[in-house]
Amino acid sequence: MPDEITETVVDSRITIRNLLHGEGSPFELAEDARKGLTSTPKTMQPKYLYDRHGSDLFEKITEQEEYYQTSTELEILRRIAPLIMDRVRPTALIEFGSGSASKTKTLLDEMRRAGRLEGYGMLDVSESALLAAADALVERYPRLQVVCEIADFEQPQPLPFPGKRRLLVFLGSTIGNFEVEDAKAFLRGPAERMHDDDAFLIGFDLIKDVETIERAYNDAAGVTEAFNKNLLTVLNRELGADFDLSAFDHRAFYNEPESRIEMHLVSRRPQRVTLIDLDLTIEFVAGESLRTELSHKYTRRSVEQLLEAGNLTLDMWETDPDGKFALGLARRR
Ligand SMILES: C[S@@+](CC[C@H](N)C(=O)[O-])C[C@H]1O[C@@H](n2cnc3c(N)ncnc32)[C@H](O)[C@@H]1O
Repeated sequence: MPDEITETVVDSRITIRNLLHGEGSPFELAEDARKGLTSTPKTMQPKYLYDRHGSDLFEKITEQEEYYQTSTELEILRRIAPLIMDRVRPTALIEFGSGSASKTKTLLDEMRRAGRLEGYGMLDVSESALLAAADALVERYPRLQVVCEIADFEQPQPLPFPGKRRLLVFLGSTIGNFEVEDAKAFLRGPAERMHDDDAFLIGFDLIKDVETIERAYNDAAGVTEAFNKNLLTVLNRELGADFDLSAFDHRAFYNEPESRIEMHLVSRRPQRVTLIDLDLTIEFVAGESLRTELSHKYTRRSVEQLLEAGNLTLDMWETDPDGKFALGLARRR
Protein backbone atom coordinates (compact mmCIF):
# COMPACT_ATOMS: atom_id res chain seq x y z
CA MET A 1 0.00 0.00 0.00
CA PRO A 2 1.31 3.46 -0.79
CA ASP A 3 2.33 5.47 2.28
CA GLU A 4 0.71 8.60 0.98
CA ILE A 5 -2.51 8.92 -0.92
CA THR A 6 -3.06 12.10 -2.88
CA GLU A 7 -6.72 13.07 -2.79
CA THR A 8 -8.06 15.79 -5.04
CA VAL A 9 -11.64 17.01 -5.07
CA VAL A 10 -12.07 18.18 -8.66
CA ASP A 11 -15.55 19.54 -8.23
CA SER A 12 -18.06 18.86 -5.50
CA ARG A 13 -18.98 15.56 -7.16
CA ILE A 14 -15.66 14.07 -8.35
CA THR A 15 -12.97 12.92 -5.93
CA ILE A 16 -9.72 11.57 -7.35
CA ARG A 17 -7.47 9.39 -5.24
CA ASN A 18 -4.07 8.55 -6.64
CA LEU A 19 -2.89 5.34 -5.02
CA LEU A 20 -0.32 4.52 -7.70
CA HIS A 21 2.34 7.10 -7.34
CA GLY A 22 2.76 7.44 -3.58
CA GLU A 23 5.97 6.35 -1.93
CA GLY A 24 6.11 2.57 -1.65
CA SER A 25 3.66 2.08 -4.52
CA PRO A 26 3.97 -1.43 -5.92
CA PHE A 27 3.17 -0.15 -9.44
CA GLU A 28 6.78 -0.15 -10.51
CA LEU A 29 7.32 -0.35 -14.23
CA ALA A 30 11.12 -0.31 -13.82
CA GLU A 31 11.19 -3.16 -11.33
CA ASP A 32 8.55 -5.21 -13.16
CA ALA A 33 10.29 -4.71 -16.53
CA ARG A 34 13.67 -5.79 -15.12
CA LYS A 35 12.08 -8.91 -13.67
CA GLY A 36 9.87 -9.74 -16.65
CA LEU A 37 12.39 -9.08 -19.41
CA THR A 38 15.18 -11.06 -17.76
CA SER A 39 12.99 -14.09 -16.98
CA THR A 40 12.52 -17.13 -19.24
CA PRO A 41 10.17 -16.87 -21.03
CA LYS A 42 10.09 -13.07 -21.17
CA THR A 43 6.83 -11.58 -19.87
CA MET A 44 5.27 -8.23 -19.06
CA GLN A 45 2.06 -7.65 -17.09
CA PRO A 46 -0.91 -6.46 -19.16
CA LYS A 47 -1.52 -3.43 -16.92
CA TYR A 48 1.40 -1.73 -18.70
CA LEU A 49 -0.50 -1.86 -22.01
CA TYR A 50 -2.87 0.87 -20.76
CA ASP A 51 -1.20 4.26 -21.09
CA ARG A 52 -3.36 6.95 -22.71
CA HIS A 53 -2.77 5.59 -26.22
CA GLY A 54 -3.25 1.97 -25.07
CA SER A 55 -6.58 2.87 -23.42
CA ASP A 56 -7.74 4.55 -26.65
CA LEU A 57 -6.66 1.51 -28.66
CA PHE A 58 -8.55 -0.80 -26.30
CA GLU A 59 -11.71 1.23 -26.93
CA LYS A 60 -11.16 0.76 -30.68
CA ILE A 61 -10.72 -3.00 -30.16
CA THR A 62 -14.17 -3.14 -28.55
CA GLU A 63 -15.61 -1.66 -31.77
CA GLN A 64 -14.09 -4.33 -34.06
CA GLU A 65 -16.51 -6.80 -35.58
CA GLU A 66 -14.30 -9.72 -34.48
CA TYR A 67 -14.32 -8.64 -30.81
CA TYR A 68 -17.66 -10.27 -29.82
CA GLN A 69 -17.00 -9.85 -26.08
CA THR A 70 -18.16 -6.23 -25.67
CA SER A 71 -21.38 -6.39 -27.69
CA THR A 72 -22.33 -9.75 -26.18
CA GLU A 73 -21.73 -8.62 -22.60
CA LEU A 74 -23.72 -5.44 -23.26
CA GLU A 75 -26.62 -7.47 -24.66
CA ILE A 76 -26.72 -9.60 -21.47
CA LEU A 77 -26.36 -6.54 -19.24
CA ARG A 78 -29.30 -4.79 -20.92
CA ARG A 79 -31.47 -7.84 -20.37
CA ILE A 80 -30.58 -8.52 -16.75
CA ALA A 81 -29.94 -5.04 -15.31
CA PRO A 82 -33.49 -4.71 -13.89
CA LEU A 83 -33.27 -8.18 -12.38
CA ILE A 84 -29.95 -7.43 -10.71
CA MET A 85 -31.22 -4.16 -9.33
CA ASP A 86 -34.28 -5.88 -7.84
CA ARG A 87 -32.14 -8.57 -6.31
CA VAL A 88 -29.31 -6.41 -4.90
CA ARG A 89 -30.96 -2.95 -4.51
CA PRO A 90 -27.61 -1.13 -4.51
CA THR A 91 -27.19 2.61 -3.97
CA ALA A 92 -23.51 2.57 -4.98
CA LEU A 93 -21.65 0.86 -7.79
CA ILE A 94 -17.95 0.07 -7.54
CA GLU A 95 -16.08 -0.99 -10.65
CA PHE A 96 -12.63 -2.51 -11.07
CA GLY A 97 -10.84 -1.79 -14.37
CA SER A 98 -13.66 0.55 -15.37
CA GLY A 99 -11.98 1.91 -18.54
CA SER A 100 -14.45 4.11 -20.43
CA ALA A 101 -17.34 2.72 -18.30
CA SER A 102 -19.50 2.68 -21.40
CA LYS A 103 -21.27 -0.62 -20.58
CA THR A 104 -21.61 0.44 -16.93
CA LYS A 105 -24.12 3.11 -17.95
CA THR A 106 -26.67 0.32 -18.43
CA LEU A 107 -26.44 -0.42 -14.70
CA LEU A 108 -26.26 3.23 -13.64
CA ASP A 109 -29.34 4.04 -15.76
CA GLU A 110 -31.26 1.27 -14.04
CA MET A 111 -30.22 2.50 -10.58
CA ARG A 112 -31.35 5.99 -11.52
CA ARG A 113 -34.69 4.66 -12.77
CA ALA A 114 -35.16 2.98 -9.38
CA GLY A 115 -34.28 6.27 -7.62
CA ARG A 116 -31.29 4.67 -5.92
CA LEU A 117 -28.26 6.06 -7.74
CA GLU A 118 -25.98 7.77 -5.21
CA GLY A 119 -22.34 6.81 -5.69
CA TYR A 120 -20.02 5.34 -8.31
CA GLY A 121 -16.49 4.30 -7.39
CA MET A 122 -14.24 3.56 -10.37
CA LEU A 123 -10.79 2.03 -10.09
CA ASP A 124 -8.30 1.82 -12.95
CA VAL A 125 -4.57 2.17 -13.68
CA SER A 126 -5.42 4.43 -16.61
CA GLU A 127 -5.74 7.98 -15.34
CA SER A 128 -6.80 9.31 -18.75
CA ALA A 129 -9.63 6.76 -19.04
CA LEU A 130 -10.83 7.48 -15.49
CA LEU A 131 -10.93 11.25 -15.84
CA ALA A 132 -12.67 11.22 -19.22
CA ALA A 133 -15.30 8.76 -17.95
CA ALA A 134 -15.88 10.68 -14.68
CA ASP A 135 -16.47 13.98 -16.51
CA ALA A 136 -19.01 12.41 -18.83
CA LEU A 137 -20.80 10.60 -15.98
CA VAL A 138 -21.35 13.63 -13.71
CA GLU A 139 -22.86 15.36 -16.71
CA ARG A 140 -25.18 12.45 -17.46
CA TYR A 141 -26.22 11.86 -13.82
CA PRO A 142 -26.67 15.25 -12.12
CA ARG A 143 -26.72 13.96 -8.51
CA LEU A 144 -24.08 11.23 -8.78
CA GLN A 145 -20.98 11.30 -6.51
CA VAL A 146 -17.96 9.82 -8.32
CA VAL A 147 -14.82 8.53 -6.60
CA CYS A 148 -11.96 7.82 -9.05
CA GLU A 149 -9.16 5.65 -7.74
CA ILE A 150 -6.03 5.58 -9.88
CA ALA A 151 -4.89 2.27 -8.51
CA ASP A 152 -3.73 -1.27 -9.18
CA PHE A 153 -6.56 -3.68 -8.47
CA GLU A 154 -4.01 -6.34 -7.57
CA GLN A 155 -3.36 -4.34 -4.39
CA PRO A 156 -6.38 -4.72 -2.09
CA GLN A 157 -7.81 -1.34 -1.05
CA PRO A 158 -10.71 -0.39 1.18
CA LEU A 159 -13.89 -0.23 -0.91
CA PRO A 160 -15.46 3.23 -1.27
CA PHE A 161 -18.97 4.02 0.00
CA PRO A 162 -18.80 1.72 3.06
CA GLY A 163 -22.12 3.03 4.39
CA LYS A 164 -24.08 2.14 1.25
CA ARG A 165 -25.39 -1.09 -0.21
CA ARG A 166 -22.90 -1.83 -2.99
CA LEU A 167 -22.80 -3.65 -6.27
CA LEU A 168 -19.20 -4.40 -7.26
CA VAL A 169 -18.56 -4.95 -10.96
CA PHE A 170 -15.66 -6.34 -12.99
CA LEU A 171 -16.61 -6.38 -16.66
CA GLY A 172 -14.98 -7.27 -19.97
CA SER A 173 -13.67 -10.63 -18.68
CA THR A 174 -10.71 -8.65 -17.35
CA ILE A 175 -10.56 -11.32 -14.61
CA GLY A 176 -9.23 -13.63 -17.34
CA ASN A 177 -6.05 -11.55 -17.60
CA PHE A 178 -4.83 -12.89 -14.25
CA GLU A 179 -2.88 -16.11 -13.83
CA VAL A 180 -5.36 -18.58 -12.24
CA GLU A 181 -3.89 -18.32 -8.72
CA ASP A 182 -3.73 -14.51 -8.98
CA ALA A 183 -7.41 -14.39 -9.95
CA LYS A 184 -8.28 -16.31 -6.78
CA ALA A 185 -6.11 -13.97 -4.71
CA PHE A 186 -7.72 -10.93 -6.35
CA LEU A 187 -11.26 -12.15 -5.54
CA ARG A 188 -10.39 -12.70 -1.89
CA GLY A 189 -9.69 -8.94 -1.56
CA PRO A 190 -13.23 -7.70 -2.35
CA ALA A 191 -14.75 -10.82 -0.72
CA GLU A 192 -13.14 -9.84 2.58
CA ARG A 193 -14.38 -6.25 2.30
CA MET A 194 -17.93 -6.85 1.07
CA HIS A 195 -20.87 -6.70 3.46
CA ASP A 196 -23.45 -9.51 3.42
CA ASP A 197 -25.88 -7.37 1.36
CA ASP A 198 -23.26 -6.41 -1.25
CA ALA A 199 -22.90 -8.39 -4.47
CA PHE A 200 -20.21 -8.75 -7.13
CA LEU A 201 -21.09 -8.90 -10.85
CA ILE A 202 -18.32 -10.38 -13.01
CA GLY A 203 -18.06 -10.83 -16.79
CA PHE A 204 -16.60 -14.13 -18.07
CA ASP A 205 -15.64 -14.98 -21.64
CA LEU A 206 -16.69 -18.59 -22.21
CA ILE A 207 -14.90 -21.49 -23.92
CA LYS A 208 -16.11 -21.82 -27.51
CA ASP A 209 -14.74 -22.74 -30.93
CA VAL A 210 -11.10 -21.79 -31.25
CA GLU A 211 -11.59 -19.86 -34.49
CA THR A 212 -14.03 -17.38 -32.94
CA ILE A 213 -11.76 -16.81 -29.95
CA GLU A 214 -8.57 -16.37 -31.99
CA ARG A 215 -10.26 -14.00 -34.49
CA ALA A 216 -11.16 -11.67 -31.61
CA TYR A 217 -7.46 -11.11 -30.87
CA ASN A 218 -6.35 -10.92 -34.51
CA ASP A 219 -8.71 -8.32 -36.00
CA ALA A 220 -8.27 -7.59 -39.69
CA ALA A 221 -7.76 -3.85 -39.09
CA GLY A 222 -4.71 -4.60 -36.92
CA VAL A 223 -5.97 -2.69 -33.86
CA THR A 224 -5.06 -5.47 -31.41
CA GLU A 225 -1.62 -5.67 -33.03
CA ALA A 226 -1.13 -1.93 -32.46
CA PHE A 227 -2.39 -2.31 -28.86
CA ASN A 228 0.10 -5.12 -28.24
CA LYS A 229 3.03 -3.27 -29.81
CA ASN A 230 2.17 -0.14 -27.82
CA LEU A 231 3.79 -1.89 -24.87
CA LEU A 232 7.15 -1.44 -26.62
CA THR A 233 6.40 2.27 -27.09
CA VAL A 234 5.69 2.52 -23.34
CA LEU A 235 9.02 0.82 -22.55
CA ASN A 236 10.88 3.06 -25.03
CA ARG A 237 9.36 6.22 -23.57
CA GLU A 238 9.38 5.37 -19.86
CA LEU A 239 12.64 3.41 -19.58
CA GLY A 240 14.77 4.81 -22.42
CA ALA A 241 14.56 1.52 -24.34
CA ASP A 242 15.30 1.13 -28.06
CA PHE A 243 12.75 -1.52 -29.11
CA ASP A 244 12.26 -1.45 -32.89
CA LEU A 245 8.51 -2.08 -33.27
CA SER A 246 8.95 -3.30 -36.85
CA ALA A 247 11.24 -6.10 -35.62
CA PHE A 248 8.39 -7.80 -33.70
CA ASP A 249 5.28 -9.65 -34.86
CA HIS A 250 1.97 -9.70 -33.00
CA ARG A 251 0.92 -13.25 -32.18
CA ALA A 252 -2.26 -14.25 -30.31
CA PHE A 253 -3.25 -17.91 -30.09
CA TYR A 254 -5.49 -20.15 -28.00
CA ASN A 255 -3.66 -22.42 -25.59
CA GLU A 256 -6.23 -25.19 -25.30
CA PRO A 257 -4.85 -27.10 -22.29
CA GLU A 258 -4.75 -23.86 -20.30
CA SER A 259 -8.07 -22.54 -21.77
CA ARG A 260 -6.54 -19.18 -22.52
CA ILE A 261 -5.53 -16.78 -25.22
CA GLU A 262 -1.88 -15.82 -25.03
CA MET A 263 -0.74 -12.61 -26.63
CA HIS A 264 2.92 -12.36 -27.57
CA LEU A 265 5.39 -10.14 -29.41
CA VAL A 266 7.68 -12.39 -31.42
CA SER A 267 11.16 -11.26 -32.42
CA ARG A 268 11.63 -11.45 -36.20
CA ARG A 269 15.41 -11.80 -35.93
CA PRO A 270 18.19 -12.12 -33.39
CA GLN A 271 18.43 -8.73 -31.70
CA ARG A 272 19.69 -6.84 -28.71
CA VAL A 273 17.60 -4.21 -26.91
CA THR A 274 19.02 -1.68 -24.44
CA LEU A 275 16.98 -0.12 -21.65
CA ILE A 276 19.14 2.85 -20.65
CA ASP A 277 17.22 3.72 -17.47
CA LEU A 278 17.66 0.16 -16.19
CA ASP A 279 21.27 -0.08 -17.33
CA LEU A 280 20.17 -3.33 -18.94
CA THR A 281 20.69 -5.02 -22.31
CA ILE A 282 18.55 -8.01 -23.26
CA GLU A 283 18.89 -10.41 -26.18
CA PHE A 284 16.20 -12.02 -28.31
CA VAL A 285 16.89 -15.00 -30.57
CA ALA A 286 14.88 -15.18 -33.81
CA GLY A 287 11.36 -16.39 -32.99
CA GLU A 288 11.71 -15.69 -29.26
CA SER A 289 8.64 -14.12 -27.74
CA LEU A 290 7.70 -11.66 -25.05
CA ARG A 291 4.33 -12.62 -23.53
CA THR A 292 2.19 -9.54 -22.93
CA GLU A 293 -1.29 -10.79 -21.97
CA LEU A 294 -3.30 -13.84 -20.97
CA SER A 295 -7.05 -14.07 -21.39
CA HIS A 296 -8.58 -17.13 -19.75
CA LYS A 297 -11.84 -18.61 -20.99
CA TYR A 298 -14.35 -20.27 -18.67
CA THR A 299 -17.20 -22.72 -18.17
CA ARG A 300 -19.85 -22.33 -15.48
CA ARG A 301 -18.07 -25.08 -13.53
CA SER A 302 -14.65 -23.40 -13.73
CA VAL A 303 -16.24 -20.10 -12.64
CA GLU A 304 -17.87 -21.78 -9.62
CA GLN A 305 -14.51 -23.26 -8.64
CA LEU A 306 -12.74 -19.93 -9.09
CA LEU A 307 -15.33 -18.08 -7.01
CA GLU A 308 -15.19 -20.68 -4.29
CA ALA A 309 -11.41 -20.30 -4.03
CA GLY A 310 -12.00 -16.53 -3.84
CA ASN A 311 -14.42 -16.95 -0.89
CA LEU A 312 -17.43 -16.11 -3.06
CA THR A 313 -20.40 -18.11 -4.23
CA LEU A 314 -22.43 -17.89 -7.45
CA ASP A 315 -25.93 -16.45 -6.91
CA MET A 316 -27.00 -15.85 -10.52
CA TRP A 317 -25.62 -16.90 -13.94
CA GLU A 318 -26.72 -15.43 -17.26
CA THR A 319 -25.36 -16.01 -20.76
CA ASP A 320 -26.27 -14.89 -24.27
CA PRO A 321 -28.31 -17.41 -26.31
CA ASP A 322 -25.16 -18.75 -28.04
CA GLY A 323 -23.24 -19.18 -24.78
CA LYS A 324 -20.37 -16.94 -25.84
CA PHE A 325 -20.16 -14.81 -22.71
CA ALA A 326 -21.57 -14.90 -19.18
CA LEU A 327 -22.28 -12.58 -16.30
CA GLY A 328 -22.07 -14.12 -12.85
CA LEU A 329 -23.48 -12.47 -9.74
CA ALA A 330 -21.51 -13.52 -6.68
CA ARG A 331 -21.99 -13.13 -2.93
CA ARG A 332 -19.52 -13.57 -0.13
CA ARG A 333 -19.45 -17.03 1.37
C1 LIG B 1 -9.92 -5.38 -20.79
S1 LIG B 1 -10.07 -3.71 -20.32
C2 LIG B 1 -11.79 -3.65 -19.84
C3 LIG B 1 -12.35 -2.27 -19.78
C4 LIG B 1 -13.86 -2.19 -19.45
N1 LIG B 1 -14.13 -2.64 -18.10
C5 LIG B 1 -14.63 -3.05 -20.42
O1 LIG B 1 -15.28 -4.00 -19.98
O2 LIG B 1 -14.62 -2.75 -21.62
C6 LIG B 1 -9.19 -3.71 -18.80
C7 LIG B 1 -9.28 -2.43 -17.98
O3 LIG B 1 -8.63 -2.66 -16.73
C8 LIG B 1 -7.60 -1.71 -16.51
N2 LIG B 1 -6.51 -2.42 -15.82
C9 LIG B 1 -5.71 -3.40 -16.33
N3 LIG B 1 -4.89 -3.88 -15.37
C10 LIG B 1 -5.19 -3.17 -14.24
C11 LIG B 1 -4.70 -3.22 -12.90
N4 LIG B 1 -3.72 -4.07 -12.53
N5 LIG B 1 -5.25 -2.39 -11.98
C12 LIG B 1 -6.25 -1.51 -12.33
N6 LIG B 1 -6.74 -1.42 -13.58
C13 LIG B 1 -6.23 -2.25 -14.52
C14 LIG B 1 -7.23 -1.16 -17.87
O4 LIG B 1 -6.72 0.16 -17.79
C15 LIG B 1 -8.57 -1.24 -18.61
O5 LIG B 1 -9.33 -0.08 -18.41
